Amino acid sequence: MTVFRPLLPAESGRYAAHLLRLSAADRRARFMGGLSDASVCAHVDRIDWSRSIILAALCGGEVRGAVELRIAGSGAELAISIEADWQNQGLGGVLVRRAFTMARNRGIRGIELYCLGDNHRMLRIAGRLSALIRFDGGEVQCDFQLPAADAFSLTLEAMDRGGTALSMMLEPGSLPRAA
Ligand SMILES: CC(C)(COP(=O)(O)OP(=O)(O)OC[C@H]1O[C@@H](n2cnc3c(N)ncnc32)[C@H](O)[C@@H]1OP(=O)(O)O)[C@@H](O)C(=O)NCCC(=O)NCCS
Repeated sequence: MTVFRPLLPAESGRYAAHLLRLSAADRRARFMGGLSDASVCAHVDRIDWSRSIILAALCGGEVRGAVELRIAGSGAELAISIEADWQNQGLGGVLVRRAFTMARNRGIRGIELYCLGDNHRMLRIAGRLSALIRFDGGEVQCDFQLPAADAFSLTLEAMDRGGTALSMMLEPGSLPRAA
């Protein structure tokens, strides 16, 4: 069972452990370049949780995928990571769509995402979500415009949260806990 929920600041260790489990190629794709384990941990340590949302996909109680949303005013930068054994099952698309709903409901109107030019899966997800895609050498910038929050987006997030509460009861390993 997959549980989608934002991580708490106390769970930063669970997020770091997920990022450290990424393959070398996926880590390069996620951070747009090679990063040592220490640099990955430093990245997580630097997260300003008052301006960030880490929306996780917990499978069997472990974080196997996550969207990191860094908020600045009415804009945000989004990055995503899915561990290899959980890729190509629709998880990335679902996580991005849920993150967009959360962002809309918090007044965010524009999201940018950067990826490498050969990241076909990411570009497929971005294209399906109507991104404006700009190629610049080997890198790509994807810009998304979000509509203002409305009754539907608020209800959608509330329904997601209701489903999450139920799933957490059935999957106790997915409950909040420090790593
Ligand atoms: C990129 C990433 C987030 C995608 O997540 P995912 O869960 O594997 O993706 P999904 O299964 O939701 O969707 C993949 C889509 O790409 C398509 N796809 C798969 N392989 C493809 C390929 N070689 N070429 C084109 N499209 C491809 C799938 O058919 C699917 O599209 P569809 O839903 O229209 O059928 C994931 O692979 C990942 O974390 N990679 C490492 C980190 C990274 O690249 N992050 C992005 C930059 S921040």
